[in-house]
This record gives sequence, C-alpha cells and structure tokens, in this order.
Amino acid sequence: MKQVCRKRRRFRDWCAIWGSFASRHLWSFALCASLMAIKFGNEHITIKIMEQITIQTDFAKDVLEGLSANPKHLSSKYFYDDTGSKIFQDIMRMPEYYLTDCELEIFETQSDEILNAFTEDGSEFEIIELGAGDGVKTKVLLSHFLNKNCICEYVPIDISEDAVSNLVIDMELQLPGLNIKGKVGDYFKLIDEINTAEKRKKVLLFLGSNIGNFNELESLDFLSKLKDVMHPGDLLFIGFDLKKDPEIILNAYNDPHGHTAAFNLNLLDRINNKLNADFVLQNFRHREIYDPETGTAKSELISITKQKVEIQDLGKAFWFEEGEAIFMEMSQKYDLNMITGLAKKSGFQVVRNFYDKRLYFMNSLWKLK
Ligand SMILES: C[S@@+](CC[C@H](N)C(=O)[O-])C[C@H]1O[C@@H](n2cnc3c(N)ncnc32)[C@H](O)[C@@H]1O
Repeated sequence: MKQVCRKRRRFRDWCAIWGSFASRHLWSFALCASLMAIKFGNEHITIKIMEQITIQTDFAKDVLEGLSANPKHLSSKYFYDDTGSKIFQDIMRMPEYYLTDCELEIFETQSDEILNAFTEDGSEFEIIELGAGDGVKTKVLLSHFLNKNCICEYVPIDISEDAVSNLVIDMELQLPGLNIKGKVGDYFKLIDEINTAEKRKKVLLFLGSNIGNFNELESLDFLSKLKDVMHPGDLLFIGFDLKKDPEIILNAYNDPHGHTAAFNLNLLDRINNKLNADFVLQNFRHREIYDPETGTAKSELISITKQKVEIQDLGKAFWFEEGEAIFMEMSQKYDLNMITGLAKKSGFQVVRNFYDKRLYFMNSLWKLK
C-alpha cells in the first residue's frame, strides 16, 4: 500500500513538473528549434537546441529527486553554468587550491615522458577529454603533442555549453594547427558516441580531480562504461588528488576568499533562475568536512534557519530545518593502494604514474587488462 502511494505521489510529481515545465519552456524551445531549422536549413541549430532541452529537463528532474531525498542533495555536475565556470576559474587561481598548480606542474615538466607513454612508436592518436572545463592545463600537453605531430584530433566534452565554446575559441586562437571537435552534453550520455568514432588509437583524459566527485560505486560504474568503448591499445589518463595533511585539504575548500562558498551558493541561484525558485542565498552557509581515514571531503550547504523554498517549475515547496544540510559534492582523496585497487576492480592495469614534486597529486595512465 505504502509503495502504491509512493508511486502515485511520484507520478503526481512528474505530471506537475512536466505540465508546468513543458508549458513554460519546452514548447517555446521546440518551436524556436523548428523555425530556426526551417529558416537556416541547419540541423546543427536543431541539435544544439535539443541538447539545451535535454540538459534543462535533466536539471529539473535531478533537483526534484535531490531535494525530495533524505538527506537532501544536489548534483555537482550543475555547478558549471556561465557564472559557476567563472567562479571555478577564481578557485583554480587561489594559492590554497593546490590541485591546479600540481597538475599543471606535471604537464609542464613531464610532457615528454607523458607523450612517450601515450605513444611508444610516435604514431598518431586522438584525445577525448571528459569534463574538459577551460582546458588550460590540457593546452600544455596538446601544444607539445602538436609540435611532435602526434595528435590527429582533440574532442573536449563538457556539460557546460559556455565551457566548450570558450575552450574551442581559445584553442583555435592559441593552437591554430589543432583539429578540434567540441561536444556539449553529459559524458555519461555521449560515451557511446566515442565507440562509434573511427577505430584509431584513443587516449581518454579525465583530469583535475573529476574522478574524486564520484563515490566508489559510481567510479566503478563510470570506469566500466569507459572500458566498454575502449579498444586494445587505447589509454585512459586520470587525475587523482592524493591524501595529505588534512589542514592543506580543508584550506583548499574552506578558502578565506569565499570563492568555494560562492561556487556552491551559485547552484541555488541557478535553480532560482532556471526553475523559478525563491532560495534566499543568505539563509545558507557553506561547510566543508574531511575524514582523513577514508580520504573523503564533503561540501555542504547548511540552512541557517527553518525555512520553506518554493520551486514553481516543479510545482513544489521544500522545507529546511535549522542546521539541515544539502550535500553538494564529494572530493575523494586517494593513496596508491586505492588507485591500484580501483584500476584492478574496474578491469584496467596501471601503465605509469606521474607525480608533482610535493607528491600532492598524481596522473595515472591505464590500459585495458
Ligand atoms: C572540476 S571541473 C574540471 C575541469 C578540468 N577537467 C580541469 O581539470 O580543470 C569539472 C568539469 O566537468 C564538467 N562536468 C561535470 N559533470 C559532467 C558531466 N556529467 N558531463 C559532462 N561534463 C561534466 C563541468 O562542467 C566542469 O567543466
């Protein structure tokens, strides 16, 4: 009986979302798409608008699921709208956020060794980068590979349309010889397209500490999806933030400039703007916790008062108790055993690890087992 009621409630929620959302946005998007496609005879415009519709409806669905759950949570993949991407660049520039500097140092000082590990005989390969962001660090590697005539194509994939268009413009300007094909969308959904790509050697990049945003089950699921689209000879190059002094880790997220807090709060603002909600940002504060045993850091937004938030496009209101947390993002820190274990469990074999000089960060190169 309980289950039937739950199912009915979920069905009613869905009708509310779709009714309200479709009437507000989808039909106008679809109409625009068709009119523009007719006017310009350009299927790319239709595809682009359809991508936007998919991202927007997934956003509504995920926000509903996350805020209805106990404990409440939001998906960190929605951090990166235009404002979020700009704030993340501020975060990457902070001296406390050591991750960017460490990975950049690895690429700047070891690009020759990395190239040799990617291609022993100097033959060409294609690079597909998942969650490419602004690609600033990747540019260092691409520039080196281009000089050595080893790269035939670079395919950056990101869920943020702004990130992809800015990256493509920047790369075309700075690396004019590079053949680049940016793709906007969720990499979980675009993974299959990788499989249908021409059968030339692929190196998949998953940089920064993107993998750390998944828990172990999610990592294994993600890695097994990648394994399915890889062929013998293809490689996977992943960034791992390593366990270290907890104070250094907490300082990177509890930054004195307030960028990380602004970054998290921006997602509430995005919900306000995209789904017609009334979050009062001042009623939430950012909290970072780190467990040195497990190596898990967690970002949360804490409701500083008992409050109700209405999200019109979902046709729903959500209550927050004073002190209640919304779980925003996890950032897993690893040791060598954890990384080797993850490779083994997911059907990969470690080829070589590249460390920065402080041993804070590692880029690990994997092949199929
Ligand atoms: C932490 S940033 C890292 C960017 C870059 N890899 C770096 O190391 O600087 C994460 C990037 O992944 C993108 N992203 C997160 N989840 C995604 C998903 N499911 N599909 C595609 N892109 C995603 C975000 O938009 C963002 O640009």
